[in-house]
Amino acid sequence: MLIYNMKNLNKQLGKKVAVIGAAGGIGQPLSLLLKLNPNVSRLSLYDIVNTPGVAVDLSHINTNSNVVGYKGQDSIGEAITDADVIVIPAGVPRKPGMTRDDLFNTNANIVQSIGQAIAKHAPKAHVLVIANPVNSTVPIIAETLKKAGVFDPRRIFGVTTLDVVRASTFVSELKGTDAVKTKVTVVGGHSGVTIIPLLSQTGINFTQEEIEKLTHRIQYGGDEVVKAKDGTGSATLSMAQAGARFTNSLLEALEGKTGIVEPSYVYSPVAAKEGVAWFSTNIELGVNGVEKIHPLGKLSEYEQKLYAEAIPELQKNIKKGEAHVNK
Ligand code: NAD
Ligand code: LMR
Repeated sequence: MLIYNMKNLNKQLGKKVAVIGAAGGIGQPLSLLLKLNPNVSRLSLYDIVNTPGVAVDLSHINTNSNVVGYKGQDSIGEAITDADVIVIPAGVPRKPGMTRDDLFNTNANIVQSIGQAIAKHAPKAHVLVIANPVNSTVPIIAETLKKAGVFDPRRIFGVTTLDVVRASTFVSELKGTDAVKTKVTVVGGHSGVTIIPLLSQTGINFTQEEIEKLTHRIQYGGDEVVKAKDGTGSATLSMAQAGARFTNSLLEALEGKTGIVEPSYVYSPVAAKEGVAWFSTNIELGVNGVEKIHPLGKLSEYEQKLYAEAIPELQKNIKKGEAHVNK
């Protein structure tokens, strides 16, 4: 008699990662990086356009993962069924002069419909939201899953990795440190004043002028790229690297590796007393997703001021996302 050991079979099958918006500016390089990742066994690429070509192209790379492309709304169910991780870079990017919140009207509906598909076809997946405005799109996914009765706060992540990637780069440029080893904790949300770099926790000495300049650059780093791209989009390549880094950290944690810490905008008690349910701090990842949420730690007087400025904006952004689903 042939007996299948499901645990071993699942291990052999490895992890399935689905990218939603895979043919886009972020989606394509992100999918390339995931195709190169040995922790990914099945790569499922979904978009409303162009995915078959992207998938066939990537499938010729000689790594041990299987790539399948799905195009069009009828195929999203198949694309995400059994996915361990679903990454969402679907939606429109900014043009110069726009805020991330200006993307709300278009992206809220896109993200909500993806959330409905996840509730139906992949309610146990870990969901990584890249689509902007992250401060609102994450609550949209959460409320959509709540409505369907499948909300698990440990499995929903707003991807804020790019903020710490930029912070490491900008600090190392100024101070001549190794960019790879320079760690900066960034908390709050993912837009303008809601991005709060905690430079006082780096162990590096800064003048107040340096702190103010760096803080502004980290908060508005996205605008630098939008301006330089001059109407053709926002960060795609650095975002793909940041998204691939976060996905890999989560996959390693899901496989049982311990002590993995990344920042993420998650359902969090950190700012709950201010009525802010979603907040980014460093998170320890584990086999079930969010394992432990790190506290803010000690803030300087300047950082306390930044925190106070971020709170009303976060309250507004979160309420707007929730209201979109519950209207
Ligand atoms: P893009 O326009 O190049 O690509 C978006 C892709 O999404 C396109 O291929 C499009 O066909 C697809 N799409 C649209 N509607 C869809 C749907 N219903 N289902 C599946 N796919 C759909 O844009 P981009 O530059 O890749 O940016 C994508 C999003 O990521 C934007 O909202 C942008 O603001 C955001 N972003 C976030 C961060 C972050 O740090 N979280 C960083 C950069 C960009
Ligand atoms: C970023 O930080 O680069 C992204 O959120 C894209 C944007 O609109 O700036």
